[in-house]
Amino acid sequence: MYFSKRQKNLHAWALKLLLLFITAVVILYCIVGLVNLIFPRKVKNYGLSDYVTNISLSIVHIENRQNLVHVRDDVNTADHCVYYNFLKRIKEYVAPDYEPISLALHSTINSAHHIVKHAQSWNDFISYAVFFFPPDGDLLLPLLRLHRCNMLVNDIVSIHLVWHRGFLQKECDDGSAFEKIDMLAHQDPSCETFNLTETLSTLRNVTTPVGHYPINIMRNEARRGATSKVHIIGDIETQYSYNFANNVRHSTQKLVNGNYGKAVLAYRRFEMDEMAAFPMDLKVFSELMDEKKILPYRQRFASHFVPGLKEWMATSLTREKAELTPFKYNDYHLEPQLIMRHDVPFHFEHASSNHFDQQLLCYELCRAGYTFHMITHVFNIHPGINVNSTETERSLNSIANSQSKQIIPKFMNYLNTRYSKDSSKQCPKWEDYV
Ligand SMILES: *[C@@H]1O[C@H](CO)[C@@H](O)[C@H](O)[C@H]1NC(C)=O
Ligand SMILES: *[C@@H]1O[C@H](CO)[C@@H](O)[C@H](O)[C@H]1NC(C)=O
Ligand SMILES: *[C@@H]1O[C@H](CO)[C@@H](O)[C@H](O)[C@H]1NC(C)=O
Ligand SMILES: *[C@@H]1O[C@H](CO)[C@@H](O)[C@H](O)[C@H]1NC(C)=O
Repeated sequence: MYFSKRQKNLHAWALKLLLLFITAVVILYCIVGLVNLIFPRKVKNYGLSDYVTNISLSIVHIENRQNLVHVRDDVNTADHCVYYNFLKRIKEYVAPDYEPISLALHSTINSAHHIVKHAQSWNDFISYAVFFFPPDGDLLLPLLRLHRCNMLVNDIVSIHLVWHRGFLQKECDDGSAFEKIDMLAHQDPSCETFNLTETLSTLRNVTTPVGHYPINIMRNEARRGATSKVHIIGDIETQYSYNFANNVRHSTQKLVNGNYGKAVLAYRRFEMDEMAAFPMDLKVFSELMDEKKILPYRQRFASHFVPGLKEWMATSLTREKAELTPFKYNDYHLEPQLIMRHDVPFHFEHASSNHFDQQLLCYELCRAGYTFHMITHVFNIHPGINVNSTETERSLNSIANSQSKQIIPKFMNYLNTRYSKDSSKQCPKWEDYV
């Protein structure tokens, strides 16, 4: 090939330019690397939804790890670790013309088999926090298989793991527990030999240490892991009435839009004779009530429920759509089950489980100026009628009772820093404390 001198010159120039360009790119790359090294960027917090990050940024310390969060001790939070979206639902959040309702569930692994019935019946998304005792990562395998291999669970359930750091572990990713979780989270087990009955039985058989279950931390993590603006917290063993989310949608939309002002919706909770079949409609439900096979939850040894049951039943039976009835929060024993916006305060994590855990939130909502509205037509049912508490429950209760002598004053202190002292005048007197 023949090149003129002029062309050769041109080639030389082009070559020089190319070299210069490559050198510039390399230098720029090094500078960016160096800057990143000196000023590390905040890692995007993948687990938390934007809504939640907004409210709780001050209390959540974000580790340099995706999905891993270390919540530290603060006025209303208690130290623990969370791995958000250990197992992530595959259904995307496509903003439909309504805001989906996130069912926020929580439990230890040996109750995880209950998640299947929720996945079958819940209309929107489920955010499920599982309390895990390291270092036994293998216990998570059946959970992993259940999530990967059961379409319903895989579609709508996101699972978050919550645990306490071990003695001598400074950080949440110290020790083998985190490595194991992280590895499992990226595993893709084969579903060829998956047998649902067997997997559920394996989960049920898992033995977890008897001990303190930090119920309010678990409720909060289920909420923090949720990705929509409406949250409803539930116990894993209870069952929600048929078509629950669709039946309350017109009201939750208004709640989201702020039409009710600062408000929470409450729904009723019942317990049912284990021999009875779950009622699929309100007529059957009311018949079971008449036969005393369904009772308000723990009516027999507590008075923690909202009055007006007769009117509630009548409205539920005769009206086409669910209706709201405002009720007064006038007794600190009240512990209604709530449907809340994402920006409603979180549960007080220093509470002891079994004692005032839910009441503390209701009381705080009162101090914060929220109004309460009972919603008709929907409910949830706890399986089995509790005639008496068990031996273990009673001993746990008495421990919790003695602990609350320290906890309630701590809680009141927290409230007084956050809300005006005057706000307590609007709220019932908490005997011995306020
Ligand atoms: C988060 O907070 C910012 C500033 O307060 C606000 O502009 C934004 O709308 C909030 N985002 C959400 C999702 O609530
Ligand atoms: C699944 O496991 C159960 C109990 O181990 C067994 O009875 C059943 O036959 C198995 N089902 C299939 C399809 O293999
Ligand atoms: C679970 O425990 C029961 C009773 O001990 C036993 O019959 C069953 O085979 C166990 N299931 C699995 C999957 O190990
Ligand atoms: C419940 O247990 C307590 C304490 O053991 C006992 O005194 C009481 O009679 C029991 N009540 C019922 C309804 O069984």
